[in-house]
Amino acid sequence: MTGCLAGRVALVSGAGNGIGQAIACKLAGEGAIVGVNDLKPEFTTRTVEMIRAAGGMAEALPGDASKRDSVRGLVLEMAARHGRFDVIVNNAAWVRYGSIASITEKTLDRMVAIGFAGVVWGIQAAAEAMAETGGSIINIASSAAFLGMPNALTYCGIKAGVTGLTRSAAAELGPQGIRVNAIAPGSTQTEAVMAMLDEEKIAMRVARTPLRRMGRVDDIAEAALYLASDRSSFVSGSVMLVDGGITHAFS
Ligand SMILES: NC(=O)c1ccc[n+]([C@@H]2O[C@H](COP(=O)([O-])OP(=O)(O)OC[C@H]3O[C@@H](n4cnc5c(N)ncnc54)[C@H](O)[C@@H]3O)[C@@H](O)[C@H]2O)c1
Repeated sequence: MTGCLAGRVALVSGAGNGIGQAIACKLAGEGAIVGVNDLKPEFTTRTVEMIRAAGGMAEALPGDASKRDSVRGLVLEMAARHGRFDVIVNNAAWVRYGSIASITEKTLDRMVAIGFAGVVWGIQAAAEAMAETGGSIINIASSAAFLGMPNALTYCGIKAGVTGLTRSAAAELGPQGIRVNAIAPGSTQTEAVMAMLDEEKIAMRVARTPLRRMGRVDDIAEAALYLASDRSSFVSGSVMLVDGGITHAFS
């Protein structure tokens, strides 16, 4: 297999759908052996089949990305099976929007467990597997980390937290050759997002975006490829906005 990630071993959480699936396909397309994690086994199989059909290498790794033991087990399994571990993409999320008054303990706990604790466990497990060799940790944040969005209290807080985790981990793990970065997508056309937006809301978002379109999953996958590869060998602690310019635009 050729490509800028040939021979590298990667794991992408929540890769059965949307952005995670596009990232898994992109990394595999550049030669990485990709562990495809998702909570839903049938989703992992679907992504693995897509990758293999395109000539890439992938393994289905169903499991709960919010659980420490589960994440550690998947990372160490990939490392043991392939003799190295180079890239983790902490992408899985479970999201519910709603007013502050509507937040319940159940939804808060689940969102934090997957979107925040899951990233902590991913960083911890990857740091263990990469301790001798270095590697690249990529956390999927959101433009919501920087925005005061109504009805998104928990989501905005979690994603701002993910940017903080990224900076701290980059400072601590840098001396071991482990780079830690985040990607902050703007509104990206995934099934889940498109199901939430009617035509009027889509048109409004597009009109407010300087580049006048919504994100595509491939936009985010390209950023992940850059951060996973040696092309970004001096980049760590950064949060890359991939949002068509909307987050910092005043309009
Ligand atoms: N789509 C967007 O517009 C957008 C914008 C900004 C940030 N993001 C972020 O990008 C990431 C991916 O978002 P998406 O829109 O592709 O989501 P998605 O809902 O399409 O996919 C998420 C995947 O994660 C899986 N998952 C959920 N809980 C899991 C768990 N405990 N363990 C393992 N897998 C689990 C789901 O089964 C699903 O396949 C998330 O972190 C999200 O917050 C998305």
